[in-house]
Amino acid sequence: MIKKIISKSEIKRKIKEIAKEIESDFAGKEIIMVGILKGSFIFLSDLIREISLPVECDFIKVSSYKGKEKGKLKIEFLNSLSLKGKNVIIVEDIVDTGGTLNEIVKRIKKEKAAVVKTCALIVKKKKIKCKLKIDYSGFKIPDKFVVGYGLDFEEKYRNLNYIGYIK
Ligand code: IMP
Ligand code: MG
Repeated sequence: MIKKIISKSEIKRKIKEIAKEIESDFAGKEIIMVGILKGSFIFLSDLIREISLPVECDFIKVSSYKGKEKGKLKIEFLNSLSLKGKNVIIVEDIVDTGGTLNEIVKRIKKEKAAVVKTCALIVKKKKIKCKLKIDYSGFKIPDKFVVGYGLDFEEKYRNLNYIGYIK
């Protein structure tokens, strides 16, 4: 059973707020939004449709969890667009220890992007173990495993239109 903690309408409202922030920070500019697969695919697709700037999209594939336990981190750079001189926003579903996003920021900085910003729908605030700045963040939640709206437990529950705990 899933206990709902963030509803579909709260997510929608939060995405509009994040989109407004991005639009004002990058007014008159073009951006590339790089989604971290698989978890961010729903968030990214809803977010870009709220942004009225010219937006390009690309993806990085990361698999880090086996069930609820952390497995070995595997990062595959699928991005086909050149990020050199571009305004890049990395889009993540959830930040736990921050290890994944931190690694990706370091790697994208090597591509000589003009600006590298980070965006995460959910942040487990107390757990971040590295010096990671999250420029655009949605919800701060306690340290519990959540599913839905792209987030999975053993590949299931990504299709829920809300976010919740597994009970
Ligand atoms: P980090 O590297 O510890 O920040 O872990 C981030 C990654 O772990 C995210 O991209 C998710 O794929 C996964 N993850 C962390 N917490 C959760 C959760 O509560 N539910 C589902 N996936 C999670
Ligand atoms: Mg992820």
